[in-house]
Amino acid sequence: MQEDTIFQMPLIGDKAPEFVANTTNGVVKFPSDYAGKWVILFSHPADFTPVCTTEFITFQSMINEFKDLNTELIGLSVGTLTGHLAWIEAIKNLTYRDWTNVEITFPIIDDMNMEIAKKYGMLHSHESNNKTVRAVFIIDPNGIIRTILYYPLTTGRNFEEIKRTLIALQTTDAFGVSTPADWQPGDDVVVAAPSTVNELNKRISNKDKTLDVKAWFLSLQKLSESEITEKLHKKSSNKKTK
Ligand code: BEZ
Repeated sequence: MQEDTIFQMPLIGDKAPEFVANTTNGVVKFPSDYAGKWVILFSHPADFTPVCTTEFITFQSMINEFKDLNTELIGLSVGTLTGHLAWIEAIKNLTYRDWTNVEITFPIIDDMNMEIAKKYGMLHSHESNNKTVRAVFIIDPNGIIRTILYYPLTTGRNFEEIKRTLIALQTTDAFGVSTPADWQPGDDVVVAAPSTVNELNKRISNKDKTLDVKAWFLSLQKLSESEITEKLHKKSSNKKTK
């Protein structure tokens, strides 16, 4: 009979569990080495596996888009540094979609003893006892987990959705708004519902017409993509010059 192991998974809003790890780019002390930056910490099942290879190439192709959003990538799997290095060397000789000879520059953690995978709840025992599922943790500049996504072993991730979620989080922080279903930068955003009678009356009368009031509890506001880009990029370039 299969033995179930229960790991305490971190939740959205928790402090990202700390670790020190050997990676393909040297030793990483997490999250302190990334203070002031957003981080996408992601796990993949194993080196030299086909879906993971397509994911690595896709993620690397977007690395500058993430850097422009003050965001760094870190990968993890239950494997050795030697295995990770051999795999990224092999990736250099591949062509996938429009990408050829891709050099993986983000660090990949050696988590052979599964300590970090266990800390982050990346091992789902009915899926596999020794292969990490496709987990994505979006961690903010204060080391707080803001999003957790899990995909099974056989389903490659949608990296545009990961980027969209990151921009949505940064937009929420920068403008104090929420983002509706299927939101893309440039679409209307959601403003908070009123919480007092005064605010409620003001919202219903909507005298200044700055909002698109669908109902007292659902109001939309215009927020252009250029306003978002300007604010998010200003924030990230301020960080880079420090
Ligand atoms: C893959 O990356 O292709 C893969 C890895 C583990 C199980 C199934 C697929």
